[in-house]
Amino acid sequence: MPTLHHDPDRQQDMLAIARQARAQAYAPYSGYRVGAAVLDDQGRIHAGCNVENAAYPEGLCAEAAALAAMVLAGSTRALAVLVVGSGGEAAAGWITPCGGCRQKLREFGSPDLRIISANEVAIGPSYTLQALLPDSFGPDHLPPRAAAAAP
Ligand code: THU
Repeated sequence: MPTLHHDPDRQQDMLAIARQARAQAYAPYSGYRVGAAVLDDQGRIHAGCNVENAAYPEGLCAEAAALAAMVLAGSTRALAVLVVGSGGEAAAGWITPCGGCRQKLREFGSPDLRIISANEVAIGPSYTLQALLPDSFGPDHLPPRAAAAAP
């Protein structure tokens, strides 16, 4: 029995949901539209798209938006994330989450959290969080009192 995030059907569901989210992206400044789908520990999939801002640093990445949707829905454990951008073999490199989003994923995922890259045509390479963010800082580094404050 495959684990949820290795189930090919769930991966296809994540791909479809991330592509739909990408169509909603608000990216008038970069023109680079991104959609993300996060699979949580209850088997639910949460979508997000990038949302840019005229004050450029205030923009939000698709992964961050999908994680916010997951937390809003009541889960704080992510098993996998699939990200759709315009990279791939025929263009620039395959999309991978930016450094800030790797850290955001770290908050809610274990080292084997699966990060899957895709574009409008195909699924590309996949990685573990451990590979993209080694020796990372997380909630377990904080003193017990601060960690206990998080439900
Ligand atoms: N972006 C994402 O939403 N996710 C990524 O994984 C990489 C980059 C967004 C941020 C910005 O709106 C645009 O793509 C160009 O950097």
